[in-house]
Amino acid sequence: MSERHTSQAARSRWKLLSQFISQKRSIDCSCPSAQSVSVKRLLNFGFLKFTEHASDQNPSYNVRQYSFSDEFSVSLLSRKNTIPTLSEVNSVIGTAFDTTGLITVWPAEEALSYYIFENVADFRGKSVLEIGCGCGLAGLVAAKGGSGFVSLTDANEDVVRLCDESISMNPDVQNCTASVLAWGKLENFATFDFIVSADCLYFEKSHALMHDLLSSALAKNGTALFVCPRRGASLEAFVHLLNGQKVFKVCVLENWNRHIDNCIADTMQKNMDLFDKNLHNLLLITVERLSPQG
Ligand SMILES: C[S@@+](CC[C@H](N)C(=O)[O-])C[C@H]1O[C@@H](n2cnc3c(N)ncnc32)[C@H](O)[C@@H]1O
Repeated sequence: MSERHTSQAARSRWKLLSQFISQKRSIDCSCPSAQSVSVKRLLNFGFLKFTEHASDQNPSYNVRQYSFSDEFSVSLLSRKNTIPTLSEVNSVIGTAFDTTGLITVWPAEEALSYYIFENVADFRGKSVLEIGCGCGLAGLVAAKGGSGFVSLTDANEDVVRLCDESISMNPDVQNCTASVLAWGKLENFATFDFIVSADCLYFEKSHALMHDLLSSALAKNGTALFVCPRRGASLEAFVHLLNGQKVFKVCVLENWNRHIDNCIADTMQKNMDLFDKNLHNLLLITVERLSPQG
């Protein structure tokens, strides 16, 4: 994807948000770019339990502690205000920034984290790359669960700074780093047993870059896991592109976890007016190499 396209997409998303906030009217949610930032429709699915208290160091953030079980919890910084202020919106208009990773831990990230926790034995001793990590919960869960090495990555430097702080809030997590990584082919980079990502497939212009990244960074017998809603035709477009390249075997799974399914069904019942299957139903996409030994 060219920088021009990235900045155009970012600009149009934030312009819509700006309009929404300043004119206090609804975003036209039929527009895919509006859907991607539709914080108005951010529902709490209750996938995970957490407690929060104000951060001493950072007044805009809470310290959020996710408890997966009595013995397994992960802390991270999460923004107090999940709706960007008008000055924030205006400050990114005209830049190539995507700041969605700063806003909140998105539901897909929580669902992916739950999946990793439930399957933590599969991740033990393995290398894990999280891409478009935002607050980085999924990678932190893998690291806490004993992955050999976890790399939290995102194109947004502020997101990476936040992840760095969150890593240091988990003293028992020694095997995790945060760094800037924009999608695209990785040169001279290690390969990973797992590449994981939540809610990053709606950047349709980035699909080819994502394919390149998987080609260069997924280990021969590795697995990539994407959790995301359909968001218009973006998920199908990604799967179509991957299938066309004939490098990977791709599976799209609905109803891939009973707990996640139950939480979504519950939320749907309680929020009939806001629930939109296209935005809120989460799918798991698994990607493996067609010829792992090759
Ligand atoms: C919707 S957020 C998801 C964040 C996190 N995974 C979650 O679900 O909470 C999308 C993330 O992708 C990152 N991103 C967008 N374009 C990117 C690119 N070209 N390369 C790497 N990261 C990118 C953004 O900075 C943001 O953190």
